[in-house]
Amino acid sequence: MHPVTQPLKVALLGCGVVGSAVARQLTDDAEDLAARVGAPLELIGVAVRDASQPRPESGVTPDLFTTDADSLVTRADLVVELMGGEEPARSLLLRAIEHGAGVVTANKALLGTDGPTLYAAADERGVDLSFEASVAGAIPLLRPLRESLAGDDVQRVMGIVNGTTNFILDKMDRTGAALADVLAEAQQLGYAEADPTADVEGYDAQAKAAILASLAFHTRVATGDVHCEGIMGVTAEDIKDARKIGMVIKLLAICDRTPDGVSARVHPTLVPRSHPLASVHDAFNAVFLDTALAGELMFYGRGAGARPTASAVLGDLVQAARHRIDGGHGPRESAYAELPILPIARTHTSYFIRLEVRDEPGVLARVANSFGAQGISIESMRQGVRRSADGLATLQLVTHPAADAALAATVEGLREVDDVHDVRSVLRVEGL
Ligand code: NDP
Ligand code: HSE
Repeated sequence: MHPVTQPLKVALLGCGVVGSAVARQLTDDAEDLAARVGAPLELIGVAVRDASQPRPESGVTPDLFTTDADSLVTRADLVVELMGGEEPARSLLLRAIEHGAGVVTANKALLGTDGPTLYAAADERGVDLSFEASVAGAIPLLRPLRESLAGDDVQRVMGIVNGTTNFILDKMDRTGAALADVLAEAQQLGYAEADPTADVEGYDAQAKAAILASLAFHTRVATGDVHCEGIMGVTAEDIKDARKIGMVIKLLAICDRTPDGVSARVHPTLVPRSHPLASVHDAFNAVFLDTALAGELMFYGRGAGARPTASAVLGDLVQAARHRIDGGHGPRESAYAELPILPIARTHTSYFIRLEVRDEPGVLARVANSFGAQGISIESMRQGVRRSADGLATLQLVTHPAADAALAATVEGLREVDDVHDVRSVLRVEGL
C-alpha cells in the first residue's frame, strides 16, 4: 500500500444527476478511495448555476457550492466536469488543464465536436484527460479500447449506446405500442428528458459513435462525420414486420474499418433475434468489438443513470489521482492513422424494404429488375395477402449487402415504378 500523502484537491463542475452521485460517493467512500489512491480526495468546491439550491442527496456541505467555476478550477489538482454542453465546459476544462489539473469529463457532446483541442491542451501540460463515462455510462469500454486493445487492430465497433431509445424500441417490440406513447412513458419514468431530441434524433449516439470510432481506428472522427438517423420514423408496423421475419429493431452505432477508410453511422437497424444485441432490453447498453487478434468482444451494462455513470467517473478520478502521486499520465490522443472517413454512400449494408405493389402478373419480376439494375442481390422476399379493396399486396424484401448508394438509388428507382404504389419502409439490416 502507498504511504498516504497530502490530500488531493478535487473540484466538481456540476451537481445534477451524475455530479451529485459522484459527490455522495466521494464522501461515503472517502476512506477506501484514499487507500486506493494513496491520498485523500478532498472536495474543495462544487460549481453549479444556482448555489442556493439545497442538494441534500449530494452530501455536500452548502459552503462548498459556488457559481464561480472559473476560480474554482484554478485551485484544484483534479477537476471533474459534469455540467454538460459545450460552453462553459470547454473553457473551464482548458483553464483547469492550463493550471496543471488532471481532468475527468462525461461530456460526449463536447468530446465529439472538440476532443482534439482538449487532447492537445492536456498533452502540452502533461496531465490526464479521461472520459470513460462519456460512452455507455458504467461500462468499461473506452479504457479497454485505449489501453487493453492498444496492440490489436479493431475492425468494427457495433452497439447500442443510447439507453433511452433502446427502452423505447424494446417497449414497442414487447407491447406493439406506438412510439409516441412509449416516449411519453419513458419521460414519465425519467429515462427520456423533457426535451428528448438528442436521444430520439440519434444525436447522443452520434457523438458517442464519433468518440468510439476515433479511439478504435486511431483517426479523428468528429460528430459531424457520423451519418445519423434517429428513431422517430420507426412505426409499430415496422416493429411488427421485423418480428414476422425473426428480427428486432435497435438504434445501433456502427463504426467500420475497411480497406478504403473508416465509416461511422447511427440508424435504426434490423438485427436477427438470435443476435446477442437483440437481447439487450430496457435502457441497457451493449457494444460489440471485432478485432484482428482478440476476435469478438462484447461489453454490456448500464449506459446511464446517476450511480452507474458515477462509477465510471470515479474510476477515471482514481486513476488521475494516482498519476498525480506516482507521476505519468493516461494515454494521449492516438490519431496517427489519419484514415479517410467514408461517406454513408460507400458503406455496405443489407436493406429491409416494405413495398405496396399491384398484385398482378410480372410485378415481382419488375421489382426484382430494379434491384438487379443496381447490381443488388435479393436475399429473401415475402408477399402478403392481396387486399380486395385496392388490389394491392405488401412485399417485404431483404437484400444482400451492397453499397449504400446503390441501395438508395434502388429505392428511388422503385418509387418511379408504376406497379409500386408506395415504399412504406426502408431499414438497414445487420448481423445476418
Ligand atoms: P444535469 O443537467 O443533471 O446536471 C448538470 C449540472 O451542471 C447541474 O448541477 C447544473 O447546475 C450544472 N451546470 C450546468 N451548466 C452550468 C453552468 N453554466 N455553470 C455552472 N454549473 C452549470 O446533467 P447530468 O448530470 O445528467 O449530466 C452531466 C454530464 O454527464 C453531461 O455531459 C452528460 O451528457 C453526461 N452523462 C450523463 C449521464 C446520465 O445518465 N445523466 C450518463 C452519461 C453521461 P444547476 O443544478 O444549478 O442547474
Ligand atoms: N441520454 C443518454 C441515454 C444518457 O439515454 O443513453 C447516457 O449518455
